[in-house]
Amino acid sequence: MALILAIESSCDDMSVAVFDTVAQKIRAYHTYSQKSHELYGGVVPELASREHLEKVGLVVDIVMQQAACSFADLAAVAATNKPGLAGSLLVGLCYAKGIAWARGIPFLAIDHLEGHIFSAFLETDGSVRTTLTFPHLCLTASGGHTALYLVKDFGAFTLIGSTRDDAAGEAFDKIAKLIGFSYPGGATIERLAREAHFEDVFKYPRTKHTPGDFSFSFSGLKTAVLYDLAKRGYVDLATGNATPALTEEVQRHVASSLLACIGDILVKTFSRALDAYPEVTALTFVGGVACNKYLRQRLEALATTRGITLHISPPAFCTDNGAMIAFVAGYRFARGERCALSIDVFE
Ligand code: KG4
Ligand code: ZN
Repeated sequence: MALILAIESSCDDMSVAVFDTVAQKIRAYHTYSQKSHELYGGVVPELASREHLEKVGLVVDIVMQQAACSFADLAAVAATNKPGLAGSLLVGLCYAKGIAWARGIPFLAIDHLEGHIFSAFLETDGSVRTTLTFPHLCLTASGGHTALYLVKDFGAFTLIGSTRDDAAGEAFDKIAKLIGFSYPGGATIERLAREAHFEDVFKYPRTKHTPGDFSFSFSGLKTAVLYDLAKRGYVDLATGNATPALTEEVQRHVASSLLACIGDILVKTFSRALDAYPEVTALTFVGGVACNKYLRQRLEALATTRGITLHISPPAFCTDNGAMIAFVAGYRFARGERCALSIDVFE
C-alpha cells in the first residue's frame, strides 16, 4: 500500500483526496465548496482563505475516514502551490507540509494546471483511464484559465494557445450577471440555452484566426453581447442595468446564442490544432466549463468526424478537485521526485 494525500485549495474549493499508487485508484475524495462568494458576484480572496482555514482539518479528516487510513499509512503528502490566490494556496500548502513534517514523509508541490490536464485520466469510480493515449490535445476551460495543450506524456505538455483576455468560464459568469443571474453563471446559461433548444438567435461575432494561431479571446464577446443587448433596448448602457424589456425569453435567447458561439469557437480552435498536429490521437476537455453537456456533444461530434476519441472526466473531476492533484503527485512520487518544505506559493 502506498497512499498519497493531496490538498487542493487554489481558489474557493477545499478539496482533498487519497490516491493509492499501487491500485492506481483514487481511494477517497471530498470537496467543500464555499457559498459565501455568491453574494459578491465573484470570489473574494480574503473570505476564501479564512474559510479554508476553518475547513481544511475537517475535510482532511472526512477523506482519511472514507479512505479507511491513518496518517501513519501515508507514503507522501501533496498540495497545489500554483497558480491561484496566494492566501488560499497557503492554507492547503501549509497544512500538507505540517503533516509531511510531523510524519517525516515526502512532500510534493503540484501545479494546478498540470492537475487539470491529467484529470482527464480519472474515471468516475476513481480508477485510472487506460484508453487515453499520447500525444493528445487538452483544452482546459474554467473561470480562471482557458488554454490548449499538446500533451506528450505524463508531466510532459506544451502550451500551444491560451486566452488573450478573459477565461471561457469568466465569459459565462459575466454574461449571466449581465442578464440578471448570480455567480457562477455557467450552469444557468446551459439550463436556459437548453430551454431555447440551443438556437443561435443573435449570432454573436466569432473571432477570426490565422492557421497557426490557437489563442482564445472572450472579452470582445462579452462587449459584443452588451452592445447587442443595448441596441435591442434590453440593457441601459449608461447604468449597465437590464430594462423591463429583458424578458425570460430574451434571457434564454442570449444564453443559447452565447453557447452556440462558444461551441463554434472551441470546435474551430480544436480543428485548426488537429490540422497542425496530425500525430494527435485523442482530445480531452477539462476544467469547470467541461461540465457543459452541449459543449461536450459539440467536441464529441468533432472527434468522431476526425476519427479520434474524446475523453472527459465526470463533473467532480472537471471542476477544481484534490483527486487530480493526488494523481499527478502519484506519478511524480513514483519517479522519485520530492520537494523541499521551504517551497512557496506562486500566484
Ligand atoms: O474549474 P472550476 O470549478 O474553477 C475554476 O475557475 O478554476 O470552474 C468554474 C467555472 C465557472 O466559471 C463556471 O461558470 C463554469 O466553470 N461552469 C460552467 C458549467 N459549470 C461550471 N460553464 C459552462 N457550463 C457549465 N455547465
Ligand atoms: Zn482550476
